[in-house]
Amino acid sequence: MLYEAPLGDAALVEELAQSCLMLAEQDIAGQRWAEEHHYRGYTSYASLNDLPIRDPAFGDLKRLLDKHVAKFAKDCAFDLAGRKLKLDSLWVNVLDGDGGHNSHIHPHSVVSGTVYIALPDGSRGLKLEDPRHAMMMAAPTRTADAPEMLRSFVEVVPEVGTVLLWESWLRHEVPAGQGSEHRISISFNYRW
Ligand SMILES: [Fe+2]
Repeated sequence: MLYEAPLGDAALVEELAQSCLMLAEQDIAGQRWAEEHHYRGYTSYASLNDLPIRDPAFGDLKRLLDKHVAKFAKDCAFDLAGRKLKLDSLWVNVLDGDGGHNSHIHPHSVVSGTVYIALPDGSRGLKLEDPRHAMMMAAPTRTADAPEMLRSFVEVVPEVGTVLLWESWLRHEVPAGQGSEHRISISFNYRW
């Protein structure tokens, strides 16, 4: 199940773009982590865990995301026993134009997602992997024109300002881009 909707505040997206670029410039620990882990660009993933408190733009973002996630939880028919899904972590990604991010899942979370802040020419979207892969055994590969439901991989290329949400077990990646400008996104995990 994939959720795709506009964040609903274009001015906030602009403000977040500035905040993300400022972090990329000033967060020395994050820069060092990216370098040590061969991350093509900057991420606050390992260096900052208080963005919604640190910067009011991220606080506003959190309030909007809470609503999107609550809606998605309903779409998923989750029985949350009267509780709400809660933001667990939120981080900034400022990828080099030719950067990408290998295939991975987000363990210990229920819902994961990304808000797209800048997708210059040559940027790729989010590539999702069919979770049935492990069960396909000797199945032949599918034809190039197979319906989306049957494809092994589906790449969603969102517009700037879009919120994408998915269940955290869904394996995904960002294929390497071909542009020269930064691809900016904000990713997050929600837990029960
Ligand atoms: Fe991810």
